[in-house]
Amino acid sequence: MGKDALLEVKNLKKHFSLGKERILKAVDGVSFQIKKGETFGIVGESGCGKSTAGRTIIGLYDRTEGEVIYEGENVHKMTGKERFAFQRKMQMIFQDPYASLNPRSTVREIISEPMEVHGLYPDKKERLERIYQLLEDVGLNRDHANRYPHEFSGGQRQRIGIARALSLDPEFIIADEPISALDVSVQAQVVNLLKDLQRKKGLTFLFIAHDLSMVKHISDRIGVMYLGNLVEQTASTNLYKNPLHPYTQALLSAIPIPDPDVEDRRERMILKGELPSPINPPSGCVFKTRCPLAMDACQTVKPEWQEAEADHFVACHLYNKDTDGRQKYSQAMGIK
Ligand SMILES: Nc1ncnc2c1ncn2[C@@H]1O[C@H](COP(=O)(O)OP(=O)(O)OP(=O)(O)O)[C@@H](O)[C@H]1O
Ligand SMILES: [Mg+2]
Repeated sequence: MGKDALLEVKNLKKHFSLGKERILKAVDGVSFQIKKGETFGIVGESGCGKSTAGRTIIGLYDRTEGEVIYEGENVHKMTGKERFAFQRKMQMIFQDPYASLNPRSTVREIISEPMEVHGLYPDKKERLERIYQLLEDVGLNRDHANRYPHEFSGGQRQRIGIARALSLDPEFIIADEPISALDVSVQAQVVNLLKDLQRKKGLTFLFIAHDLSMVKHISDRIGVMYLGNLVEQTASTNLYKNPLHPYTQALLSAIPIPDPDVEDRRERMILKGELPSPINPPSGCVFKTRCPLAMDACQTVKPEWQEAEADHFVACHLYNKDTDGRQKYSQAMGIK
């Protein structure tokens, strides 16, 4: 991809110091690129570092190691005017629509604030018109402008969060589980809204979710995250057809298939045990403690991030051409 990447994340790490030399490795070396106009999904279970990755990419957290390059510029080295300009270009929609809106501000004030900070629409009447337009863009209306967040449903609040993120006319949006706090009945509406806005405004998305069934519909490419690491990445259709990493296979097997015959015959891959602590992550492969196919190599050697087939990356010894991984995998799965 290289040249046409809008965002490049290179070996990004974010470690939190918990005192007494205890370090929590929330994000521990992830790399991916996103093209303009594309939606890149990140999935993984709770605590694997998705939000921390998003917050570090947008510069809310400084990074521990690695680089985030947006339009050729290093996000963590931007200062002054450059940083201010970047804040307009990249916006975030937060995971919790209840906690991310100030309960003492009206919707008008919430949407207006970023524009005031950036000196956009200095004319009050024009700014109000802009607020009304944004409310309509997200499926609300001008009568909502003078109400407070508690007067809205979860889905409506998330729409307010989206209107706020759009107020600066950004190019790139990090949507951090924008629908997981919402009722199933309104999840699809918010996803459709985001897709619509993407088409109309030419937005690029980093879409974070813990559930593969949801990212599938919205993402062009998907990265699967486990304990601070990316373990697999490919085009979203390919991830469903040909998942390589045992963790991805387990995530996919947890999604019900609508056809009852197929569903009955299908073998589920249940993951044993809990997500290990990112304070003392396992040595070797981070997934080894839960992997049904773990081999000797997985105990001590961290698998490299490699291109197993065109545009399909995986970090797993099963696909290392130098080991007999494929053979063992075939044996374990009963494939001749
Ligand atoms: N500010 C912080 N200080 C210390 N530890 C943190 C901080 N923020 C997150 N963590 C820890 O980093 C790890 C990753 O957290 P993160 O919120 O990024 O996970 P997540 O994948 O977004 O999970 P979820 O799906 O539940 O939102 C967790 O172990 C979490 O406890
Ligand atoms: Mg999160």
